[in-house]
Amino acid sequence: KTVALVLAGGIGSRLYPASRSDRPKQFLPIGGDRSLLARTVDRAGFADETVVATRPRFADEIDEHAPDADVLVEPDGKDTGPALTYATHRIRETYRDTDEPLVIVALPSDHHVGDDATFRETMIAGARVAAETDRLVTFGVTPDRPETGYGYVEPGGAGDAAGVEFHEVATFHEKPDAETARAYVDAGYRWNSGMFAWTPERFLDAAADSSLAPLVDALAAGDPESGFDAVEPVSVDYAVFEGAERVAVVAADFAWDDLGSWDALDRVLAADDDGTVAIGEYAAVDAADNVIASDGKHVSLVGVSGLAVVAYDDHVLVVPKDEAQRVRELVSLLADRD
Ligand code: GDD
Ligand code: MG
Repeated sequence: KTVALVLAGGIGSRLYPASRSDRPKQFLPIGGDRSLLARTVDRAGFADETVVATRPRFADEIDEHAPDADVLVEPDGKDTGPALTYATHRIRETYRDTDEPLVIVALPSDHHVGDDATFRETMIAGARVAAETDRLVTFGVTPDRPETGYGYVEPGGAGDAAGVEFHEVATFHEKPDAETARAYVDAGYRWNSGMFAWTPERFLDAAADSSLAPLVDALAAGDPESGFDAVEPVSVDYAVFEGAERVAVVAADFAWDDLGSWDALDRVLAADDDGTVAIGEYAAVDAADNVIASDGKHVSLVGVSGLAVVAYDDHVLVVPKDEAQRVRELVSLLADRD
Protein backbone atom coordinates (compact mmCIF):
# COMPACT_ATOMS: atom_id res chain seq x y z
CA LYS A 1 0.00 0.00 0.00
CA THR A 2 1.30 3.42 -0.92
CA VAL A 3 0.40 6.51 1.12
CA ALA A 4 1.21 9.95 -0.29
CA LEU A 5 2.12 12.29 2.55
CA VAL A 6 1.77 15.88 1.38
CA LEU A 7 3.67 18.42 3.49
CA ALA A 8 1.72 21.65 3.80
CA GLY A 9 2.96 23.30 6.97
CA GLY A 10 5.77 25.57 5.79
CA ILE A 11 5.83 29.36 5.89
CA GLY A 12 7.54 29.98 2.55
CA SER A 13 9.37 33.03 3.84
CA ARG A 14 11.42 33.66 0.68
CA LEU A 15 8.25 34.46 -1.28
CA TYR A 16 7.48 37.45 0.92
CA PRO A 17 5.38 39.57 0.49
CA ALA A 18 3.07 37.24 -1.46
CA SER A 19 3.58 34.63 1.24
CA ARG A 20 3.01 35.98 4.72
CA SER A 21 2.70 34.13 8.00
CA ASP A 22 -1.06 33.84 7.55
CA ARG A 23 -0.85 33.01 3.84
CA PRO A 24 2.02 30.63 3.08
CA LYS A 25 2.96 29.84 -0.48
CA GLN A 26 1.28 26.42 -0.69
CA PHE A 27 -2.09 28.21 -0.60
CA LEU A 28 -1.14 30.58 -3.46
CA PRO A 29 -1.83 29.86 -7.15
CA ILE A 30 1.76 30.56 -8.24
CA GLY A 31 2.51 29.46 -11.81
CA GLY A 32 -0.99 28.03 -12.37
CA ASP A 33 -4.72 28.52 -11.82
CA ARG A 34 -5.05 26.55 -8.60
CA SER A 35 -3.02 26.61 -5.41
CA LEU A 36 0.28 24.76 -5.23
CA LEU A 37 -1.27 22.52 -2.58
CA ALA A 38 -4.31 21.60 -4.71
CA ARG A 39 -2.00 20.75 -7.62
CA THR A 40 0.22 18.63 -5.38
CA VAL A 41 -2.76 16.65 -4.09
CA ASP A 42 -3.86 16.01 -7.69
CA ARG A 43 -0.42 14.69 -8.56
CA ALA A 44 -0.56 12.36 -5.54
CA GLY A 45 -3.24 10.35 -7.36
CA PHE A 46 -0.70 7.56 -8.00
CA ALA A 47 -1.00 6.55 -4.31
CA ASP A 48 -3.70 4.47 -2.60
CA GLU A 49 -4.26 7.12 0.08
CA THR A 50 -3.40 10.79 0.48
CA VAL A 51 -2.66 12.42 3.81
CA VAL A 52 -1.96 16.16 4.14
CA ALA A 53 0.20 17.09 7.13
CA THR A 54 0.28 20.62 8.49
CA ARG A 55 0.99 22.69 11.57
CA PRO A 56 -1.88 23.81 13.85
CA ARG A 57 -2.07 27.34 12.47
CA PHE A 58 -3.03 26.19 8.96
CA ALA A 59 -5.30 23.27 9.94
CA ASP A 60 -8.56 24.99 9.01
CA GLU A 61 -7.43 25.99 5.54
CA ILE A 62 -6.40 22.61 4.17
CA ASP A 63 -9.91 21.46 3.39
CA GLU A 64 -10.41 24.27 0.89
CA HIS A 65 -7.44 23.04 -1.18
CA ALA A 66 -7.69 19.29 -0.54
CA PRO A 67 -11.32 18.41 0.26
CA ASP A 68 -10.85 14.66 -0.19
CA ALA A 69 -7.57 14.15 1.69
CA ASP A 70 -7.12 13.06 5.30
CA VAL A 71 -5.61 15.92 7.30
CA LEU A 72 -3.03 15.30 10.00
CA VAL A 73 -2.18 18.20 12.30
CA GLU A 74 1.09 17.95 14.20
CA PRO A 75 1.12 19.36 17.76
CA ASP A 76 3.45 22.24 16.86
CA GLY A 77 5.15 23.75 13.80
CA LYS A 78 8.74 22.51 14.09
CA ASP A 79 9.75 22.04 10.46
CA THR A 80 9.87 18.84 8.42
CA GLY A 81 11.96 16.66 10.78
CA PRO A 82 9.37 16.49 13.56
CA ALA A 83 6.46 16.74 11.07
CA LEU A 84 7.58 13.70 9.06
CA THR A 85 8.37 11.70 12.19
CA TYR A 86 4.91 12.37 13.61
CA ALA A 87 3.11 11.67 10.33
CA THR A 88 5.09 8.48 9.67
CA HIS A 89 4.24 7.20 13.15
CA ARG A 90 0.56 8.06 12.73
CA ILE A 91 0.32 6.44 9.30
CA ARG A 92 1.91 3.27 10.62
CA GLU A 93 -0.63 3.18 13.47
CA THR A 94 -3.50 3.67 11.04
CA TYR A 95 -2.47 0.81 8.76
CA ARG A 96 -0.86 -1.52 11.28
CA ASP A 97 -3.48 -4.24 10.66
CA THR A 98 -3.02 -4.51 6.91
CA ASP A 99 -0.78 -7.31 5.65
CA GLU A 100 0.40 -5.39 2.61
CA PRO A 101 3.82 -3.72 2.88
CA LEU A 102 3.38 -0.02 3.55
CA VAL A 103 5.38 2.69 1.78
CA ILE A 104 5.09 6.42 2.41
CA VAL A 105 5.91 8.87 -0.38
CA ALA A 106 6.51 12.34 1.07
CA LEU A 107 5.65 15.24 -1.24
CA PRO A 108 6.35 18.92 -0.51
CA SER A 109 3.59 21.26 -1.66
CA ASP A 110 5.79 24.01 -3.09
CA HIS A 111 6.98 22.35 -6.30
CA HIS A 112 6.40 22.93 -9.96
CA VAL A 113 6.35 19.65 -11.91
CA GLY A 114 6.43 19.77 -15.71
CA ASP A 115 5.47 16.22 -16.65
CA ASP A 116 2.85 14.44 -14.56
CA ALA A 117 3.13 11.05 -16.27
CA THR A 118 6.87 10.75 -15.69
CA PHE A 119 6.39 12.07 -12.16
CA ARG A 120 3.91 9.25 -11.41
CA GLU A 121 6.16 6.54 -12.86
CA THR A 122 9.10 7.88 -10.88
CA MET A 123 7.20 7.94 -7.58
CA ILE A 124 6.00 4.37 -8.09
CA ALA A 125 9.56 3.29 -8.94
CA GLY A 126 10.94 4.99 -5.82
CA ALA A 127 8.28 3.38 -3.63
CA ARG A 128 9.35 0.02 -5.01
CA VAL A 129 13.01 0.66 -4.14
CA ALA A 130 11.98 1.68 -0.60
CA ALA A 131 9.92 -1.51 -0.15
CA GLU A 132 12.38 -3.93 -1.77
CA THR A 133 15.67 -2.64 -0.34
CA ASP A 134 14.60 -1.21 3.03
CA ARG A 135 16.38 2.04 2.21
CA LEU A 136 15.38 5.66 2.63
CA VAL A 137 14.83 6.88 -0.92
CA THR A 138 15.33 10.38 -2.24
CA PHE A 139 14.46 11.47 -5.77
CA GLY A 140 17.45 13.17 -7.37
CA VAL A 141 17.27 15.92 -9.98
CA THR A 142 20.18 16.67 -12.35
CA PRO A 143 21.30 20.22 -11.48
CA ASP A 144 21.68 22.97 -14.06
CA ARG A 145 23.07 25.63 -11.71
CA PRO A 146 24.80 25.89 -8.30
CA GLU A 147 21.57 26.51 -6.38
CA THR A 148 22.18 27.17 -2.69
CA GLY A 149 18.56 26.61 -1.65
CA TYR A 150 18.67 22.86 -2.17
CA GLY A 151 20.27 19.77 -0.70
CA TYR A 152 22.82 17.76 -2.72
CA VAL A 153 23.32 13.99 -2.88
CA GLU A 154 26.54 12.34 -3.92
CA PRO A 155 25.68 9.19 -5.88
CA GLY A 156 27.60 6.05 -4.94
CA GLY A 157 27.34 2.50 -6.28
CA ALA A 158 24.50 1.52 -8.63
CA GLY A 159 21.83 -1.00 -7.68
CA ASP A 160 18.67 -2.53 -9.07
CA ALA A 161 15.43 -3.31 -7.21
CA ALA A 162 12.81 -5.29 -9.12
CA GLY A 163 13.90 -3.63 -12.35
CA VAL A 164 14.28 -0.10 -10.95
CA GLU A 165 17.74 1.42 -11.09
CA PHE A 166 19.01 3.40 -8.15
CA HIS A 167 22.28 4.62 -6.65
CA GLU A 168 23.45 4.42 -3.10
CA VAL A 169 23.80 7.87 -1.56
CA ALA A 170 27.44 8.28 -0.54
CA THR A 171 26.93 11.65 1.19
CA PHE A 172 24.11 14.17 1.63
CA HIS A 173 24.69 17.93 2.05
CA GLU A 174 21.87 20.35 2.84
CA LYS A 175 22.00 23.92 1.45
CA PRO A 176 25.73 24.43 0.76
CA ASP A 177 27.29 27.83 0.15
CA ALA A 178 27.69 28.95 -3.48
CA GLU A 179 31.28 27.80 -3.91
CA THR A 180 30.59 24.36 -2.47
CA ALA A 181 27.44 24.05 -4.57
CA ARG A 182 29.51 24.77 -7.70
CA ALA A 183 31.96 22.01 -6.76
CA TYR A 184 29.08 19.56 -6.18
CA VAL A 185 27.53 20.32 -9.57
CA ASP A 186 30.91 19.82 -11.27
CA ALA A 187 31.40 16.54 -9.41
CA GLY A 188 28.09 15.12 -10.67
CA TYR A 189 26.05 15.35 -7.46
CA ARG A 190 22.28 15.60 -7.77
CA TRP A 191 19.78 17.87 -6.12
CA ASN A 192 17.68 16.36 -3.42
CA SER A 193 14.16 17.07 -4.70
CA GLY A 194 12.79 16.95 -1.15
CA MET A 195 10.44 14.13 -2.22
CA PHE A 196 11.15 10.88 -0.40
CA ALA A 197 9.95 7.29 -0.10
CA TRP A 198 10.33 4.98 2.89
CA THR A 199 8.74 2.25 4.90
CA PRO A 200 7.62 3.53 8.32
CA GLU A 201 10.00 1.12 10.08
CA ARG A 202 13.04 2.29 8.13
CA PHE A 203 12.30 5.97 8.68
CA LEU A 204 11.52 5.66 12.39
CA ASP A 205 14.75 3.69 12.88
CA ALA A 206 16.74 6.44 11.18
CA ALA A 207 14.93 9.13 13.20
CA ALA A 208 15.67 7.21 16.40
CA ASP A 209 19.38 7.49 15.50
CA SER A 210 19.14 11.27 15.15
CA SER A 211 18.37 14.37 17.20
CA LEU A 212 14.70 13.38 16.77
CA ALA A 213 15.13 10.39 19.11
CA PRO A 214 13.20 11.99 22.03
CA LEU A 215 10.23 12.48 19.70
CA VAL A 216 10.37 8.88 18.44
CA ASP A 217 10.38 7.66 22.06
CA ALA A 218 7.53 9.92 23.09
CA LEU A 219 5.42 8.83 20.11
CA ALA A 220 5.97 5.18 21.04
CA ALA A 221 4.85 6.09 24.57
CA GLY A 222 1.71 7.80 23.25
CA ASP A 223 2.73 11.35 24.16
CA PRO A 224 3.26 13.41 20.99
CA GLU A 225 2.99 16.79 22.75
CA SER A 226 5.91 16.22 25.08
CA GLY A 227 7.83 14.71 22.17
CA PHE A 228 7.44 17.95 20.22
CA ASP A 229 8.48 19.95 23.28
CA ALA A 230 11.64 17.85 23.54
CA VAL A 231 13.00 18.62 20.05
CA GLU A 232 14.20 21.77 18.32
CA PRO A 233 12.78 22.88 14.96
CA VAL A 234 14.85 21.11 12.30
CA SER A 235 14.35 19.97 8.72
CA VAL A 236 14.46 16.26 7.91
CA ASP A 237 17.45 16.93 5.66
CA TYR A 238 19.68 18.15 8.49
CA ALA A 239 18.21 15.92 11.18
CA VAL A 240 18.01 12.59 9.37
CA PHE A 241 19.45 12.55 5.86
CA GLU A 242 22.86 14.11 6.45
CA GLY A 243 23.67 11.39 8.96
CA ALA A 244 21.65 8.42 7.72
CA GLU A 245 22.94 5.17 6.29
CA ARG A 246 21.19 3.04 3.70
CA VAL A 247 19.93 5.93 1.60
CA ALA A 248 19.24 5.46 -2.12
CA VAL A 249 18.65 7.99 -4.87
CA VAL A 250 16.27 7.37 -7.77
CA ALA A 251 16.63 9.69 -10.77
CA ALA A 252 13.81 12.19 -11.24
CA ASP A 253 13.88 12.99 -14.97
CA PHE A 254 11.02 15.46 -15.24
CA ALA A 255 10.97 19.24 -15.31
CA TRP A 256 11.05 20.25 -11.68
CA ASP A 257 11.47 23.39 -9.62
CA ASP A 258 10.95 24.42 -6.02
CA LEU A 259 9.00 27.66 -6.18
CA GLY A 260 11.04 28.75 -3.22
CA SER A 261 12.19 32.23 -4.15
CA TRP A 262 11.24 34.92 -6.66
CA ASP A 263 13.94 34.06 -9.19
CA ALA A 264 12.21 30.68 -9.66
CA LEU A 265 9.41 32.39 -11.63
CA ASP A 266 11.94 32.94 -14.41
CA ARG A 267 12.11 29.21 -14.88
CA VAL A 268 8.42 28.33 -14.76
CA LEU A 269 6.64 31.23 -16.47
CA ALA A 270 6.98 32.22 -20.14
CA ALA A 271 9.06 35.37 -20.64
CA ASP A 272 8.10 38.41 -22.70
CA ASP A 273 10.36 39.62 -25.53
CA ASP A 274 12.52 41.59 -23.14
CA GLY A 275 13.08 38.55 -20.92
CA THR A 276 10.70 39.74 -18.20
CA VAL A 277 8.26 37.37 -16.49
CA ALA A 278 5.24 38.88 -14.80
CA ILE A 279 2.25 38.03 -12.69
CA GLY A 280 0.01 41.04 -13.24
CA GLU A 281 0.15 44.11 -15.48
CA TYR A 282 3.29 46.12 -16.04
CA ALA A 283 4.99 48.65 -18.31
CA ALA A 284 8.72 48.80 -19.04
CA VAL A 285 11.06 51.27 -20.74
CA ASP A 286 14.60 50.10 -21.35
CA ALA A 287 14.15 47.43 -18.67
CA ALA A 288 14.87 43.74 -19.19
CA ASP A 289 15.12 40.38 -17.47
CA ASN A 290 13.05 41.38 -14.47
CA VAL A 291 10.57 39.37 -12.42
CA ILE A 292 7.40 41.27 -11.59
CA ALA A 293 4.60 40.01 -9.39
CA SER A 294 1.65 41.88 -7.98
CA ASP A 295 -1.88 41.26 -6.79
CA GLY A 296 -3.39 43.88 -9.10
CA LYS A 297 -1.17 46.94 -8.73
CA HIS A 298 0.28 48.15 -12.03
CA VAL A 299 4.09 48.07 -11.93
CA SER A 300 6.36 50.26 -14.12
CA LEU A 301 10.09 49.92 -14.54
CA VAL A 302 12.54 52.22 -16.30
CA GLY A 303 16.17 51.45 -17.00
CA VAL A 304 16.60 48.55 -14.60
CA SER A 305 17.35 44.88 -15.18
CA GLY A 306 17.83 41.72 -13.20
CA LEU A 307 15.41 42.78 -10.46
CA ALA A 308 12.48 41.13 -8.77
CA VAL A 309 9.77 43.70 -8.00
CA VAL A 310 6.92 42.35 -5.96
CA ALA A 311 3.86 44.15 -4.58
CA TYR A 312 1.25 42.38 -2.48
CA ASP A 313 -1.23 43.99 -0.09
CA ASP A 314 0.49 47.10 1.24
CA HIS A 315 4.01 45.64 1.04
CA VAL A 316 6.57 46.17 -1.73
CA LEU A 317 9.81 44.25 -2.20
CA VAL A 318 12.69 45.06 -4.58
CA VAL A 319 15.64 42.67 -4.73
CA PRO A 320 18.25 41.69 -7.36
CA LYS A 321 17.14 38.32 -8.74
CA ASP A 322 20.48 36.75 -7.88
CA GLU A 323 20.02 37.70 -4.23
CA ALA A 324 16.45 36.44 -3.98
CA GLN A 325 17.45 33.79 -1.42
CA ARG A 326 18.27 36.62 0.98
CA VAL A 327 14.63 37.56 1.37
CA ARG A 328 14.73 35.01 4.19
CA GLU A 329 17.01 37.45 6.09
CA LEU A 330 14.55 40.26 5.51
CA VAL A 331 11.65 38.23 6.85
CA SER A 332 13.58 37.52 10.06
CA LEU A 333 14.29 41.23 10.38
CA LEU A 334 10.63 42.14 9.91
CA ALA A 335 9.53 39.45 12.38
CA ASP A 336 11.95 40.83 15.00
CA ARG A 337 10.29 44.23 14.66
CA ASP A 338 6.75 42.95 15.31
N1 GDD B 1 3.51 19.63 7.93
C1 GDD B 1 4.55 20.48 7.90
N2 GDD B 1 5.03 20.99 9.08
N3 GDD B 1 5.09 20.82 6.71
C2 GDD B 1 6.15 21.67 6.71
C3 GDD B 1 6.70 22.22 7.89
C4 GDD B 1 6.09 21.85 9.15
O1 GDD B 1 6.47 22.30 10.24
N4 GDD B 1 7.74 23.03 7.55
C5 GDD B 1 7.83 22.97 6.21
N5 GDD B 1 6.86 22.17 5.69
C6 GDD B 1 6.60 21.84 4.27
C7 GDD B 1 6.64 23.03 3.33
O2 GDD B 1 5.32 23.60 3.22
C8 GDD B 1 7.13 22.40 2.04
O3 GDD B 1 6.02 21.89 1.30
C9 GDD B 1 8.00 21.24 2.48
O4 GDD B 1 7.63 20.98 3.84
C10 GDD B 1 9.51 21.51 2.38
O5 GDD B 1 9.84 22.62 3.20
P1 GDD B 1 10.68 23.84 2.63
O6 GDD B 1 10.83 24.81 3.76
O7 GDD B 1 10.11 24.32 1.36
O8 GDD B 1 12.10 23.15 2.38
P2 GDD B 1 13.23 23.67 1.37
O9 GDD B 1 12.65 23.89 0.02
O10 GDD B 1 13.94 24.81 2.00
O11 GDD B 1 14.25 22.43 1.32
C11 GDD B 1 13.81 21.10 1.05
O12 GDD B 1 13.36 20.95 -0.28
C12 GDD B 1 14.40 21.18 -1.29
C13 GDD B 1 13.79 20.97 -2.66
O13 GDD B 1 12.63 21.67 -2.81
C14 GDD B 1 15.00 20.16 1.34
O14 GDD B 1 14.52 18.83 1.32
C15 GDD B 1 16.12 20.35 0.31
O15 GDD B 1 17.13 19.37 0.52
C16 GDD B 1 15.54 20.18 -1.08
O16 GDD B 1 16.57 20.39 -2.07
MG1 MG C 1 10.77 24.18 -0.59
